[in-house]
Amino acid sequence: MSMPNGYRNAVVTGASRGIGAAIARRLVAEGMTVHGVARSGDGLAALAQDVGPAFIPCVADVRDVEAIMARLDGVEIDVLVNNAGALSSVRPLVEQSAEETEAVIALNLTAPLQLMRRVLPGMIARQRGHVFNLTSTAGRAVLPGTTAYAAAKAGLSQACHVLRHDLAGAGVRLTEIAPARVETDFYLDSFGGDSAGLREKLFTTQRALTPEDVAATIWAALSLPAHADISEIVITSTDQAAGGQVFAQHRSS
Ligand SMILES: NC(=O)c1ccc[n+]([C@@H]2O[C@H](COP(=O)([O-])OP(=O)(O)OC[C@H]3O[C@@H](n4cnc5c(N)ncnc54)[C@H](OP(=O)(O)O)[C@@H]3O)[C@@H](O)[C@H]2O)c1
Repeated sequence: MSMPNGYRNAVVTGASRGIGAAIARRLVAEGMTVHGVARSGDGLAALAQDVGPAFIPCVADVRDVEAIMARLDGVEIDVLVNNAGALSSVRPLVEQSAEETEAVIALNLTAPLQLMRRVLPGMIARQRGHVFNLTSTAGRAVLPGTTAYAAAKAGLSQACHVLRHDLAGAGVRLTEIAPARVETDFYLDSFGGDSAGLREKLFTTQRALTPEDVAATIWAALSLPAHADISEIVITSTDQAAGGQVFAQHRSS
C-alpha cells in the first residue's frame, strides 16, 4: 500500500486504549508502522496481538521523553500523535494537591512539548512530517473543575500557533485536534471507577463522539497533499455544543 506523502512510521502516545488505540489501529490499517506508547504493557500487547506486527509496543511513561527516544533510535518518524492525556479529577483547583496540579501539567503540556522538541528536528531535516496534538474543547470553553487540565490544553493549543511560525517553509505539518466528549474511559477516575455510572451519566442520553471518529479525522488530515496543512479542528457530536453557562447558587455568609 502506498502511503500519502511517503509517510511510513508513526508514533502514537496513549495507544493502550481509547482514542490513541483507535488512531493506532486506523494508521496500521492504512499501511503505516505504528509505535504505540503507554505505561500499560497489557493494553499495548493486546492491541499488537489484534493488529499484527505493524504495531510496535513501547512501554514507557510519556513524561520520560529520553526513554522513549532511546527506544525509537534509528526510526524516521513521519507522524507524531501527542494523544496521551488525563484529567485526574473534576474539582476546584484549591481542592487539588500540589502534586496533582503538577502531574496534570507535566502529562498534558510538558510531555507533548518535549516530544515535539526531540522529534521535529528529524522531520525538518527530511522536510517531511506531520504532528498532531490532541487538545480539548475544555481548553477553549469553560468546563468547571478542570482548571489545570484546561490550562494545559490551552497552553498546548497556543504552542501550536507559535510553532507553526517556526515550521513555516519546513514542509512539516502541525494539526491541533480539539475534541468534545468522546466515549472512552477518560472520565473513569472522576467517577471513582464506576464504569456503569459513567456510561449512564455521560453516554446514554446524548451521543458522544467515538474514538474512531477522531481517528478518521486524523486520517483525513494526513491524506491531504503534503503542502496542505490543517491547523486546527474542533470536533463535537451533533448532540453537544461546547461550552455553556453555569449559574452558581448565591452563598450568604
Ligand atoms: N474522552 C474525551 O471526552 C476527550 C475529550 C477531549 C480531549 N480528550 C483528549 O484525548 C486524549 C485521549 O483521551 P482518551 O479519551 O482516549 O483517554 P483514555 O481512554 O483515558 O486513554 C488515555 C491514554 O493515555 C495514556 N496515558 C495516560 N497517562 C500516561 C503516561 N503518563 N504515560 C504514557 N501514557 C499515558 C493511557 O495509557 P496508560 O494508562 O496505559 O499509560 C491511555 O492509553 C487525551 O489527551 C485527552 O485529554 C479526550
